Amino acid sequence: MFKSVAQVKRGSLPLVASLLLRSSSSRANNKGILANKVAVITGSTDGIGFAIARRLAQDGAHVVVSSRKQQNVDRAVAALQGEKLSVMGTVCHVGKAEDQERLVAKALEHCGAVDILVCVAGVNPLVGSTLGSSEQVWDKILSVNVKAPALLLSQLLPYMESRGEGSVVLISSIGVYLPEPKLGAYNVSKTAILGLTKTLSMELAPKNIRVNCLVPGLIDTPFSQVLIKDQDLQQTMKTAYKIQRIGRPEDCAGLVSFLCSPDASYITGENIVVAGFSPCL
Ligand SMILES: NC(=O)c1ccc[n+]([C@@H]2O[C@H](COP(=O)([O-])OP(=O)(O)OC[C@H]3O[C@@H](n4cnc5c(N)ncnc54)[C@H](OP(=O)(O)O)[C@@H]3O)[C@@H](O)[C@H]2O)c1
Repeated sequence: MFKSVAQVKRGSLPLVASLLLRSSSSRANNKGILANKVAVITGSTDGIGFAIARRLAQDGAHVVVSSRKQQNVDRAVAALQGEKLSVMGTVCHVGKAEDQERLVAKALEHCGAVDILVCVAGVNPLVGSTLGSSEQVWDKILSVNVKAPALLLSQLLPYMESRGEGSVVLISSIGVYLPEPKLGAYNVSKTAILGLTKTLSMELAPKNIRVNCLVPGLIDTPFSQVLIKDQDLQQTMKTAYKIQRIGRPEDCAGLVSFLCSPDASYITGENIVVAGFSPCL
């Protein structure tokens, strides 16, 4: 049975959580490796985040999708609810404190608790070199890609802690292993995500909260079109790394579901590459 912080505190489920429980498909609530878990996912109205939202909901979680634009949130929620999945959404630009607060409040109001946080939102405002990045570019990249996941988690932590266990997945990039010179500052920010994963995994282990990291390779989304259209890069990937195809957002989703599931209960501090090849030993 889905048990919430609010239930523990007030003795009853929030109204919408009760409705979700009654109205959603049995697959969404009673079965699946994430049955009755509540998952908050940033940057989840398109691309990799949307695929993760769909997969976690298919695996039984109640999912809160979010991104900057209301119309994108509405479209994503309608699509997933149309598949009889237990999903609600709210606007959240992860770089804005007030939006983060609203995301936390909405998740608690609608679902009563949070078990899973997946921080997908990431930006790259400049296709250019590291030293060609202005202070403004650095501030935006570090704020959205690195600071935001840590600040959002710190807000959600008390609610995850009170559940007795939790799972966090951060998103890095293959660029940390094979830096693409055109994405200099972005690569640095995604390398910091590996550090954040390691640090948080140690910090939160005593609270039974696991922190792992998905490291996508080239995945076909709106975000990656600059690289996908680069014929030289495509050729290099085929010849040097033997890549047989470009990745799809769905290629990333199953791993995240696994990392959030009880099957991964002894896995923390890991980063796992999903790229059609491996740059690691
Ligand atoms: N695609 C790749 O090849 C690839 C490879 C390695 C790593 N990654 C990483 O994977 C993550 C997802 O990328 P993607 O390719 O799936 O991108 P995408 O298809 O462009 O989707 C980005 C999603 O994030 C939202 N978003 C953008 N900026 C946001 C912000 N500041 N706050 C909240 N939401 C925001 C967008 O919706 P709104 O416009 O409504 O905000 C959208 O839902 C990123 O962290 C990226 O760095 C991608």
